[in-house]
Amino acid sequence: MINALRGMKDIMHTKGELYEKIINTAQNVAKNYGYTLIKTPHLEQTTLFKRSVGESSDIVGKEMYQFIDKGENDVCLRPEGTAGVVRAFIEAKLDKAGGVYKYFYHGSMFRYERPQKGRLREFHQFGVECFGEADVKEDASVILMLNEILNKLNIKTTLKINSLGDASSMASYRKKLINFLNDHDDKICPDCKRRKELNPIRVLDCKVDSCQEIYKNAPIMSDSLSDEAKNDFNKLQEILNASGVSYEIDTKLVRGLDYYCKTAFEFVSDEIGSQSAVAGGGRYDRLVEYLGGRASYGVGFAMGVDRIMEILDSRQNECERDGIYVCALDEENVDFVFSLATKLRQNFKTNISYKAKKLQKHLNDADKANAKIFLCVGENERKNGEIFYKNLQNKDEKTINLSEVEKILG
Ligand code: HAM
Repeated sequence: MINALRGMKDIMHTKGELYEKIINTAQNVAKNYGYTLIKTPHLEQTTLFKRSVGESSDIVGKEMYQFIDKGENDVCLRPEGTAGVVRAFIEAKLDKAGGVYKYFYHGSMFRYERPQKGRLREFHQFGVECFGEADVKEDASVILMLNEILNKLNIKTTLKINSLGDASSMASYRKKLINFLNDHDDKICPDCKRRKELNPIRVLDCKVDSCQEIYKNAPIMSDSLSDEAKNDFNKLQEILNASGVSYEIDTKLVRGLDYYCKTAFEFVSDEIGSQSAVAGGGRYDRLVEYLGGRASYGVGFAMGVDRIMEILDSRQNECERDGIYVCALDEENVDFVFSLATKLRQNFKTNISYKAKKLQKHLNDADKANAKIFLCVGENERKNGEIFYKNLQNKDEKTINLSEVEKILG
């Protein structure tokens, strides 16, 4: 038997329905915020991710699906969506045109991580990216949008926010942090020694307990924020307060990708174990320029669709019964239910059994198909112009006149 690769999963049955529900909910909310669909390739030049996500990140350092293709190009399966959207934005010369552009996307991302609950090698994100908007109100808007999506999906989360400052804040913070790290050089882990050279703030994200103990006393970014970054962070909090969205300030929230400045945020859930982040994002005002475009503001988020599916799937009745199941008890009526199904399919999701079976067998099949309405014809019903009806959700059952079927399904 040929199995799927480790860390890669098929999405089918109730998971397939949940996937659609999550994407539909998210894109409807994003459209209301003025975002439109963008689709970018799964495969990009490796340099794109090295320059954007950053060499110091685990994603680029350890987790890329990178290979040389038949044309000797160094390519990589996208580990995240932002870099490709930024590349598309620059390639379409929108950075030069000016103005504000808002996109949403969804699809597979690939990271060669150690698979575990909530952590896959192929996973799915729904994300949004906004270009050309300097106002912190857009940072607030993407957080409110994400909050609304999660509320609509009934996902309870805690919002964590931080400010990573602008270029000047970061330069002064880096100096303070490097001095601190130099004082503790003999105690920090080898990964943190590497991070210190490449991108020191990344140490704050270290998962080693002894390092975290040391960083409890590390300088914090908020003491180094420029006036502009401080004002934006205060304004962001004012908007969240006024909108009734609760949050925690997490001074160690640095995110796993290098491109952020000012606003950084994550939504975490306590329903899915250690891989608790269901979504994250922030502002990235330097990224367009890093990737060769004209400096343009950027802000966005990505939501982990698989983690949300896990949460919804673990709850009963989350995937509601849906559609009709039509069937016949005897061979003579199979053609009749076929024509009935064809008619119903113009307006309703309808499954059909092409085989005559006993009532209980049909009921089991309808249950497996997660149908809501069960319609079955036997000899007697057919003679009287009737059909047996059962609502598999509330268990209501009766024999109804054939002419009433569509009215009852309403
Ligand atoms: P990220 O925090 O790396 O951000 O990923 C966003 C979400 O994707 C995470 O919160 C998590 O739910 C999900 N995720 C990440 N890795 C895995 C995995 N191995 N298995 C399952 N789910 C996973 C980004 O990707 C940024 N591009 C977000 C962004 C957009 N920032 C600005 N714009």
